[in-house]
Amino acid sequence: MEKLLSKDLLGIKDLTVEEMNLIFETADKFKEVLQRPIKKVPSLRHMTIANVFFENSTRTKLSFELAQKRLSADIINFSSSLSSIKKGESLLDTINNILVMKVDMIVMRHPDPGAPHFISKNIKASVINAGDGTHEHPTQALLDSYTIKERLGNIKNKKIAIIGDILHSRVAISNIYALQKLGAKVMICGPSTLIPKHISSLNVLIENNVENALRWCNVANVLRIQLERQGSNKFPSLREYSQYFGINKKLLDKIDRDIIIMHPGPINRGVEISSDIADSNNSLILEQVENGVAIRMAVMYLLSLNKLQ
Ligand code: CP
Repeated sequence: MEKLLSKDLLGIKDLTVEEMNLIFETADKFKEVLQRPIKKVPSLRHMTIANVFFENSTRTKLSFELAQKRLSADIINFSSSLSSIKKGESLLDTINNILVMKVDMIVMRHPDPGAPHFISKNIKASVINAGDGTHEHPTQALLDSYTIKERLGNIKNKKIAIIGDILHSRVAISNIYALQKLGAKVMICGPSTLIPKHISSLNVLIENNVENALRWCNVANVLRIQLERQGSNKFPSLREYSQYFGINKKLLDKIDRDIIIMHPGPINRGVEISSDIADSNNSLILEQVENGVAIRMAVMYLLSLNKLQ
């Protein structure tokens, strides 16, 4: 396999294992480029890419933007708060106005699940989902899987516990799809109020006791408590959440076994994870961010091959 099957990357659900491995192999090559003194290749010098973000982002937006610059693409950045969306323009009109300026690819984050899917059906250019509401965040899951593979050598039969706010998490859903396709066993853990009922249909283990989850897993992927998406209180207080579900040194010392710690960011230090664990040798949090650039370079490069035909 030399290219991706679709013109878009909308979710992990639709990706094959072969496509995921192609992205990882391509990311290996770009990771090597990123170690050079001149961290740049001309692969996308024929492309113009728009980063269209309707929700806040630090890591994903900067990582896509840097990946585009490393590939020599021309880029434009759109931020909804400063745009004519505020004057009543529709999402599709906004995108079509961007595309008519000879833009070839759209990277889009939107609070509504399915927004990038709607756009992809209505335009010819490639669309990359940079996170749509509580639905999917495919490049995050790809960089998470790539980082686990890099550290453990293989993902097959590894035990990954995804711990925290599963209910509001697109990262959890995309990770479940990715890790299961790659042969991992996946457990989700959190208070029952933060575990959606439909999750059992995804063939994951469900655990409400964080110590049991940590005793089971090789890797703990800790998720942020998304207070901004919570309509009603799902737990009594952050202090109580931290006491029962926070990952800290005392808890990990009790388990007395090396567990890899991951977190997609942004971190609520002292809530879902303590600083000593986030900054420990077992933490891959900054490796995840570093690998994100190579993974996004790989995704954009591979999608650009479809346009060249
Ligand atoms: N992991 C992640 O999506 O972070 P940002 O919201 O900062 O992009």
